Amino acid sequence: MENTVVSIPRIGEQAPEFKAVTTQGEINFPADYKGSWVILFSHPADFTPVCTSEFMTFAKMENDFAAYNCKLVGLSVDGLYSHIAWLRNIKEKIDFKGMKGMEVKFPLIEDITMEVAKKYGMIQEGESNTKAVRAVFVIDPKGVIRTVLYYPLSTGRNFDELLRIVVALQTADAFTCATPADWRPGDEVIVPPAGSCGVAKDRVDGKEENVKCYDWYFCTKPVSAQEIDSKIKK
Ligand code: BEZ
Repeated sequence: MENTVVSIPRIGEQAPEFKAVTTQGEINFPADYKGSWVILFSHPADFTPVCTSEFMTFAKMENDFAAYNCKLVGLSVDGLYSHIAWLRNIKEKIDFKGMKGMEVKFPLIEDITMEVAKKYGMIQEGESNTKAVRAVFVIDPKGVIRTVLYYPLSTGRNFDELLRIVVALQTADAFTCATPADWRPGDEVIVPPAGSCGVAKDRVDGKEENVKCYDWYFCTKPVSAQEIDSKIKK
């Protein structure tokens, strides 16, 4: 089959709009999620093992995401009745890594026409032309795409990393900073270099309180996990 060009929504763009039927009723995306963060993610197929482990993990962590005002929306190119039967099966039968009776309460979109999956670049023909890859879009309260991740069919996602991304983005917004490699709440954050964005020369002179500079372009300051939570956690 000839490969077609895939359009992929990019970081900084408005999330493409769509209306869809889900296991929790109809949604108008992203309008219904205005004011909340949202993770829109796709999975290849219902009744498959990697996807099952992912849904159980997302269900287990739904409250952890909600604590950061972040909702979850899943999608696959299966139909609604397949979604309902699969989620019921997970709840009633699957006992995996201490997760049992897991109820998926967030909406799962049916996309048999692949209309939404194609809009979001979830059908990547080199991997599969009948299933969505494992895509993740982190979208902010204004409907702007802030993170895009694509995983292959064979690799289950790291859900701690997804939560870490949400917290890191919200920390960057709330404290006007960036976060270094492997950052976790409580680690130092990166502040803009002196002379940029109106940062005073005091930074270079080492006079700015609590700021540590490794060189002129690389400065950090402490922000405690408590400070972060008091500003961004619900
Ligand atoms: C899975 O979720 O296990 C899976 C789905 C599609 C292809 C390969 C694995």
